[in-house]
Amino acid sequence: MNQNKEIEKAVTLLKQGGIVVFPTETVYGIGARLFSQTAIKKIFTIKGRPSDNPLIVHVGDKKELIPLTVDMPPLAEKLIDKFWPGPLTIILKRADIVPPIVTAGLDTVAVRMPQHPVALKLIRELGEPIAAPSANISGRPSPTRFQDVLKELNNKVDYIIDGGTSILGLESTVLDLTHVPPRILRPGFVTLESLKKIDSRITYNSQYRSRGDIPSPGMRHRHYKPSCPVLLVYPKKWNNTIARWVQKNIRIGLITYRQSILQHKSIVFQKTYYGNRNLFAHDLYQNFFEAEKKGVQVLLVESLKREKLGSAIMDRLLRASAK
Ligand code: TXA
Ligand code: MG
Repeated sequence: MNQNKEIEKAVTLLKQGGIVVFPTETVYGIGARLFSQTAIKKIFTIKGRPSDNPLIVHVGDKKELIPLTVDMPPLAEKLIDKFWPGPLTIILKRADIVPPIVTAGLDTVAVRMPQHPVALKLIRELGEPIAAPSANISGRPSPTRFQDVLKELNNKVDYIIDGGTSILGLESTVLDLTHVPPRILRPGFVTLESLKKIDSRITYNSQYRSRGDIPSPGMRHRHYKPSCPVLLVYPKKWNNTIARWVQKNIRIGLITYRQSILQHKSIVFQKTYYGNRNLFAHDLYQNFFEAEKKGVQVLLVESLKREKLGSAIMDRLLRASAK
C-alpha cells in the first residue's frame, strides 16, 4: 500500500476509536484520538503502562495547542517558533478539555509537534490532536524501526504505518515550563545548551530520582531495558573489563565509540561508532533489539560525558543498566 493510502486507513481507524502505531522523527508512537477516553485506556492496557504516567499530546499545528492549555508563558511561543516541528515536548498548564486520563490526573499537559511528514499528515488529516506515548511495551526499549514495532506490538494494535527507520532514534526532550526556572525532565536531541540560548535560566531537573520530588511520573518507572543485562563501562576501564568478560564463556555484545574491532569467539554482537554520537544515539534502541536477537547474555556499552547529546544518551543508558 502506498503511504497516502496507509495514512488514510489510519485516520479512518483513529476516528473509530482505534489504536494506530505511526513513525515520528524520534521513535515510533502508539496513538489514539486525544478525546476518546476508551481508546486512550486501550493504550495504557496494550503497553502495560502504569496509569500514573501521562501521555504526550501530538499536534499538527501551533494553533491546535491553544485550546489545550491555559496561561501559556511567552517563553513557550519563543521555543515553539524555534524548535517546532521537532523533538521538543513542552509541559504547560492543562485546559479542562484535555481528558484527565491523558495527563494521569495532573494539572499540566505535555505537547509536541512532530517533524516526521507521516506523523504530521496523520494528525492534520485527522483534524485533531493524537495522544501517543512511545510504541514500546512499558519498560522495554522504544522501537525505532518498523520490524521492531512488529516484534513488540503485532496483533495488539489496529494498524501500524511503515515509516522505515526513525531519523533521530531517541525520544524528544521534555521541558517543564510550569516550573520556575524551566527544567528539562528528559534530555533529548534538543540539548540544554541549545535551549539556554533561548532562555539562560533553563536547567536540568537534578532531583528527579529523589523520592520527594518526582515531577515527571515516567521517570520513576523501569525503562528501556532489553532482555539481556546492560552494563555501562567507563572508557578508561573498557579494555580491562572486556578482557575479563570474554573469559566467562558467555555471549557478549559490545557498543563502543572506538575505532578497533575486537575478535573473540565470545563476542557475538559488536558495534563501533568512531566517536559519532548522533549515530550512536540513532542506533541505540535498534542495537538493543539486535543484541536480543543474537542471544547476547551481557551487553557492554561504553559511557560518555553528560554534555550536549551525551546527556540524552547517558540518561537512557543509566536507566537501561539500572538494577
Ligand atoms: O519522542 C517522543 O516524545 C515520543 C514520540 C512518540 O513522540 N513519545 C514519547 O512518549 O516518548 P512517552 O510517553 O514514552 O514519554 C513521555 C514522557 C514520560 O516520561 C512522561 O512521564 C512525561 O513525558 N510526561 C508526560 N506528560 C507529563 C506531564 N504533564 N508532566 C510531567 N511529565 C510528563
Ligand atoms: Mg516511552
